[in-house]
Amino acid sequence: MDARRCLRYQAFDLPTKGTPMSGHGTPIPMIAHRSSGLSGTADVPGDKSISHRALILGAMAVGETVVSGLLEGQDVLDTAKAMQAFGAEVTRDEDGTWRIHGVGVGGFGEPDQVIDCGNSGTGVRLIMGAMATCPITATFTGDASLNKRPMARVTDPLALFGTQAVGRSAGRLPMTIVGAAEPLPVRYTVPVPSAQVKSAVLLAGLNAPGQTIVIEQEATRDHTERMLEGFGATITTEVTDEGRVITLQGQPELRPQTIDVPRDPSSAAFPVCAALITEGSDILVPNIGLNPTRAGLFTTLREMGADLTYENERQEGGEPVADLRARFSPNLKGIEVPHERAASMIDEYPVLSAVAAYAEGQTVMRGVKELRVKESDRIEAMATGLRANGIEVEEGEDWWIVHGKGFGNVAGGATCASHLDHRIAMSFLVLGLASNAPVRVDDGGPIATSFPIFEGLMADLGADIRREG
Ligand code: S3P
Repeated sequence: MDARRCLRYQAFDLPTKGTPMSGHGTPIPMIAHRSSGLSGTADVPGDKSISHRALILGAMAVGETVVSGLLEGQDVLDTAKAMQAFGAEVTRDEDGTWRIHGVGVGGFGEPDQVIDCGNSGTGVRLIMGAMATCPITATFTGDASLNKRPMARVTDPLALFGTQAVGRSAGRLPMTIVGAAEPLPVRYTVPVPSAQVKSAVLLAGLNAPGQTIVIEQEATRDHTERMLEGFGATITTEVTDEGRVITLQGQPELRPQTIDVPRDPSSAAFPVCAALITEGSDILVPNIGLNPTRAGLFTTLREMGADLTYENERQEGGEPVADLRARFSPNLKGIEVPHERAASMIDEYPVLSAVAAYAEGQTVMRGVKELRVKESDRIEAMATGLRANGIEVEEGEDWWIVHGKGFGNVAGGATCASHLDHRIAMSFLVLGLASNAPVRVDDGGPIATSFPIFEGLMADLGADIRREG
């Protein structure tokens, strides 16, 4: 692939005082022009959530875990570096196979440098959990976006194990975590629907004696539970009146695994949505994981009348997988997205809101407060940019409504701020593929955190998305 099309994200560039805060160096302004006839096959990269977990659990197993299909986005590369800093050996073969020589549960060594997790909330929260019950101290930081995000949701339950945390005001990074030398097992009900919090507690529970129990009232992505079982931990999930009760037996010896990371449904969302709104399009997005805790967007799009079909449905590595075929769908209708579906499509609301602009009628999204504490406040970021492009949006603390214009009636023409948020940048670029005037984003650099081949992949389908300047 053309190197020019591979966005580069440099997490370590220091902004000078007075310049806009940016964790990734020079902004990359981008523009999307109206396009048609997207066609071909979109081979999206590996799943980000599963990639982080493969590296972390590989580092906690004894022996060599081999991973293929790992997402080589900056978020995951930062987690790989962190695992090296805690003592695991992490290498990449020329063919893209990754090898992790783990140090065993409780075997993390103390890093001699600050751990920089860049833009990644998943990276920092899961790693904090993984080291929280080791007798070591580590200091974590991130970029301007990550350093604004709440960490108390993780450090509060970690304190129950005996872990200490000192960070900035409101529980923000940079933050130092002092691991518990004699950890206690924990029973914890997760107060917000968050797979990151659930996973942090489970990873901490690995090195506590006895049973650690995590209860979640709403089902969130279950990759940690599935992968822990694969690595040989004893873990059960029971659905009760209290919610999903997940019980983990502490201090197992994790056995190294061979992992083939499925492709990311959250990345597939962008070419799929682009095809639905661009005239004459018909694309195939193969091998997409359709784990029910992740596939909410596709169900929602089908309810809106999208011509989106699952082909070659099968099971792979215990996960449902299919090839997605998405075709231009000029008669989309706005719907009310069931709020209980929120967790299974939490990262997809930004791009759904772009598609909703092309639907007839209102798309109502409720129970989505968590969107306000992602890489950016995603309701605010999308509402502001959609309005600037001629679309009416109403919003409250945990809901928003997009008033669709119907195909052919979206004005476009505005420049949107991406707020160091990959999904905001990609969502506005998708919006611009069918608007009457082009849509710009101020900085496409963050796209490389999760989807480093986005530009090339979209160009190969026929989408007119370019860098400016
Ligand atoms: C993730 C969980 C979600 C999601 C994030 C990835 C994970 O965050 O938004 O992109 O891999 O566990 P929350 O746990 O904050 O909902």
